[in-house]
Amino acid sequence: MRIRMTGLRKAFGPTVALDGVDLAVEAGEVHALIGENGAGKSTLMKVLSGVYRADAGEMQLDGQPYAPADPLDARRRGVVMIYQELALAPHLTVAANIMLGVEPAAGGWISRQRLEEQAARALDALGHPEINLRAPVSSLSVGARQLVELARALVLEAGVVVLDEPTSSLAAADVPRLFGVIARLRERGVSVIYISHFLEEVEQIAGRFTVLRDGRSVGGGRIGEVDRGWIIERMVGRRLAEMFPRLPHAIGEPVLELADLSTPGVESASLVLRRGEILGIAGLIGAGRTEMLRAVFGLAPVRSGTVRVVGVSGLLSEDRKGEGLAQSLTVGDNLTLSHLRPYVRHGWLDRAAQLRASQHWINRLAIRTRGPSEPVAALSGGNQQKVALARLLHHDCDVLLLDEPTRGIDVASKAQIYELIGQLAQSGKAILFVSSYLPELLGVCDTIAVMRRGRLGAKAPAGEWTEHSIMSAAVGAAS
Ligand SMILES: Nc1ncnc2c1ncn2[C@@H]1O[C@H](COP(=O)(O)OP(=O)(O)OP(=O)(O)O)[C@@H](O)[C@H]1O
Ligand SMILES: [Mg+2]
Repeated sequence: MRIRMTGLRKAFGPTVALDGVDLAVEAGEVHALIGENGAGKSTLMKVLSGVYRADAGEMQLDGQPYAPADPLDARRRGVVMIYQELALAPHLTVAANIMLGVEPAAGGWISRQRLEEQAARALDALGHPEINLRAPVSSLSVGARQLVELARALVLEAGVVVLDEPTSSLAAADVPRLFGVIARLRERGVSVIYISHFLEEVEQIAGRFTVLRDGRSVGGGRIGEVDRGWIIERMVGRRLAEMFPRLPHAIGEPVLELADLSTPGVESASLVLRRGEILGIAGLIGAGRTEMLRAVFGLAPVRSGTVRVVGVSGLLSEDRKGEGLAQSLTVGDNLTLSHLRPYVRHGWLDRAAQLRASQHWINRLAIRTRGPSEPVAALSGGNQQKVALARLLHHDCDVLLLDEPTRGIDVASKAQIYELIGQLAQSGKAILFVSSYLPELLGVCDTIAVMRRGRLGAKAPAGEWTEHSIMSAAVGAAS
């Protein structure tokens, strides 16, 4: 066994994140780690990569006792974790980043030629010699940056590479490329631990899997020997009734109209969104969908054309770290601060009412937290995303602009959010739903339009689209 973790425990104050987890990963396998938001996946991997010390439990690496003091120590032992917020030096070149800390020296000087040779060999081994070694990392796409980090892991002779939700900010076309690189790492005997909420991905890339629930390992096995339903049942502890619950809702008068709207990244977009309508906007990353929402919401300049909104609009930003949540505030304050009016009585803030409202949203979205007074920074990634969504719902807008609302969210919670979107439509709200996950667009929306290179196509009923026809429209292929 490359990695053996036994009986791992880790608590953060009163929160038990790991409650006796066992995990075994073989050399040269891709092992998927799956589980609900807050199940303990990231924490477990941070223990493995030396970010946290476990409170109890044992770890072995290639049969030897293993207890890294910090991430650097873990790296020295060949355990590398790659985060979503990639940890590269943006102003340095690709080659310098790949070789950072292991620069070949000749007589005390760094040999640029040897540095580039070794970096080139790593990129070659991963099947990507086309990446320009001399380009600054800041000029690369997220997908290419990820490859640079993986090349770096190769140079460090990593035996274990951990990827925590690596595809959630990748363009669709970059996903097969990442999978190709993971396969190469596996062929070279590297063990890859892969965290993802997309079971389709896990089925494609992983050999075995382990399911975590409430900080415990509750099942695992070989991919292909069990079906998705079984895995989901392990994850959530019950059967999932319906992934895409459809609630009947009536479509009314127009509440949002764009006429030839142009903003940086968008050319002459026109659409009509009606009360009770769920309109999905598909497209590749960078197609201009986020820019369009931002212009509608007033965050980006309208160069020409018009935006007409009836009532109040609210935006759920895809960038929850930057624009989403105030990391230093509590869950309750994040939920309610932007809309306190209902809790002010005679000029005084009614804290009890504010707390009750926070608790309502925590329950409604099944947010895993100790309560409204917990700092939002202590929540798992997916649970922070739910807080951002709940805050928007709390605002009670007429037009909801949702940019990738289920990114990083587990399967069962996704189903809850789809149901919630259905209820919002039922109550007469209009929803613009930007997503890169085609099954949810097809499963949830009434109508879908595809955006490509800043141009928005005509919308059509969801039933007239297929995943294939959406992708064709998104990449501009004749279908
Ligand atoms: N630094 C921290 N301080 C306090 N609590 C924390 C901290 N990090 C994690 N937790 C808690 O530990 C539990 C497990 O969180 P973790 O981030 O490991 O979940 P996860 O499985 O990665 O979830 P997700 O799918 O949402 O990313 C959660 O209840 C979380 O709130
Ligand atoms: Mg996580």
